[in-house]
Amino acid sequence: MRAFLGIGLPADVRDAIVSSIAQVRGLHAPVAWTAQRNLHITLYFLGEISPERALLVERSMKVVASGIEPFSLTPEGGGAFPGTRNPRILWVGFLEPLELVRQLQQNMESALSGAGFPREDRPFHPHITVGRTRGALPPAWGERFFQALSGKRFGIVPVSSFTLYDSRLGPGGAVYTPLCDFRLERSARREIREEKEP
Ligand code: 2AM
Repeated sequence: MRAFLGIGLPADVRDAIVSSIAQVRGLHAPVAWTAQRNLHITLYFLGEISPERALLVERSMKVVASGIEPFSLTPEGGGAFPGTRNPRILWVGFLEPLELVRQLQQNMESALSGAGFPREDRPFHPHITVGRTRGALPPAWGERFFQALSGKRFGIVPVSSFTLYDSRLGPGGAVYTPLCDFRLERSARREIREEKEP
């Protein structure tokens, strides 16, 4: 199966994002917009994995989840990869502080690299992909997208777990099916040990 680890978004956050981009969508640029139901935060893309590897991932993700306390994220503003002048991926970003989601992603990558998965060669930039360009865009279009979302907030994402998703690509678009949730729960043992440290 094709799989990834990510964070799902509450319906009100997905609604707020879709409403905010409606105006830019109306310009009919060649962009494949992410279906509302599919808006999410990717933490690690696993790619094609066997059921045995999926079990291995599940086991190690339980350990990862037990090392991070629940946190929340505030989606705000937008941008593009690699940049607004040559946009390929259009995204909604997050307000700082982002320490806990960065820590979660780092712990995840370390655990997965121990299981033979590659480390990302790019720094982790938490985002929600809202569209992917599919052709040449009108001049300054990326800048316009950025301006349209600038300073806008889309509610709060309470993160009390992360999810292993099965991702099926089909003619009707991607279908993401949650397979397993990992509840964030910093273990009491670790907290006691850390408190004892000078
Ligand atoms: P993105 O939203 O950050 O672009 C599910 O397919 C998710 O996995 C996508 O939303 C995408 O994250 C990420 N993804 C898909 N294909 C990928 C690839 N080949 N390498 C890295 N990440 C990928």
